[in-house]
Amino acid sequence: MTQGNDLASFNPFSPDHLSAPGPGWAMLRQEAPVYQLPIPSPAPVFLATRKRDIEAIARSTDIFSNTPIPTVWRWGEFEPAIAEVFAEAGYKVVQTLQATDPPVSLAYRQIAEQALNRRKIIALQPEIDRIVDRLMAAIPDREAVNFVDAFAVPLPLEAICLILGMPYADAAFLKFYSDEFTHLVDPVHPLPRAIEATRTIVKGYRYFVDILDRYRRDPQDNLVSAIATASINGQPLSIEEQLSMCHVLVIAGNETTRNALSSAMFVLATRPDLWARLQSERAKIPDFIEEVLRVHAPAITTPRTVLQDTEIGGIALPRGATIFAMWASGGQDEESFPEPQTIDLDRKNKRSHISFGMGVHHCVGSFLARAELQSAISRWLDDFEAVELAVPPDAVRYDPVFAFHALSDLPIRITRRTSQSRAA
Ligand code: HEM
Repeated sequence: MTQGNDLASFNPFSPDHLSAPGPGWAMLRQEAPVYQLPIPSPAPVFLATRKRDIEAIARSTDIFSNTPIPTVWRWGEFEPAIAEVFAEAGYKVVQTLQATDPPVSLAYRQIAEQALNRRKIIALQPEIDRIVDRLMAAIPDREAVNFVDAFAVPLPLEAICLILGMPYADAAFLKFYSDEFTHLVDPVHPLPRAIEATRTIVKGYRYFVDILDRYRRDPQDNLVSAIATASINGQPLSIEEQLSMCHVLVIAGNETTRNALSSAMFVLATRPDLWARLQSERAKIPDFIEEVLRVHAPAITTPRTVLQDTEIGGIALPRGATIFAMWASGGQDEESFPEPQTIDLDRKNKRSHISFGMGVHHCVGSFLARAELQSAISRWLDDFEAVELAVPPDAVRYDPVFAFHALSDLPIRITRRTSQSRAA
């Protein structure tokens, strides 16, 4: 099925659209900004693609709930086959961060903020810089290397392990865990694959039980200890709540930042003009980061459940429907961002993108993500004379999934600076 300009043949789950969704979203913003998916689902499902509609949704937390219901999104109340895997293992899944509504969501958020606020992240910066230096030292000079594996995966993983207090020796499992979560939740994957992925989630829950236990007995200065010993209104968190918080933080803490790092490198390796400008104007790195986050928003979408009959953008939404806030499309909305596909370091409203969401659920990890990106990019500019792709640009593919903008691989070649080139 073709994609891009034709509403009648548009299929939001086709590999064509998913590997390059920009034109499809542009068509929807123009022709059907609140678009009902023509697919069977227990409840009607809509996509909101225009920035102003998405913002209206995010603001109205009394009408649009963050707690998902079973539709094409497999998280929340589960299909029986998935629920069975959790039940057999003795786990009840509850929602906490991201998937509850105020005021309760704010209480969970406060616990996470203890370790992710601006002050904590500034204090952590030297540690982040050390991780970046170590990963960069291992990148070979003038040889092709897959940047995703060599850098974009390990940096956020190491950082989130450090913050949570999970040993880095467990990072390979935690990466597998969060990759498998995509297979569970993302509607492009068939049910049998989602069931298989659920088994990994259950294994992860067992792992979290052990580590929560350990830090409950012997609390340390880390986020798992804070979760294990936290209470809300004088009540300790239930083990289900604690597991849910560990789950969300492990996934959110690495998947999205990985994608942002990969996209930043992809842009720099294909835009020598930007590389040269950033070399001479380091103060523009934060602007570059915001533009990469806008054009290549790592978290494409999260769902909202409609709590009462309402309308958005002139389209009636019945109570019980699901509407996806397409954050990534909002960042490409030409109404707010002229020439939206262009990374423009001088754009006036760079920080008004919605790639970290907005309102009460605005990303609690945004200080950490920006700190990792800033450290990485400034050190690439310091240590590398040049970066280039090691394959033709059209061989670089994004994973064909609905919710995450993830580069599968990114073969690059760097030229390291020598002492002469540094002096020059
Ligand atoms: C570039 C990296 C990141 C992007 C693009 C991103 C994107 C987002 C978005 C779009 C939301 C809003 C979801 C909604 O309203 O439904 C969100 C919320 C959230 N993010 Fe991030 N995120 C990133 C990094 C991180 C990191 C590093 C962490 C944790 C260490 C994290 C933890 C969370 C949590 C816990 C929430 C839910 C907050 C709440 O409900 O109050 N994120 N993120």
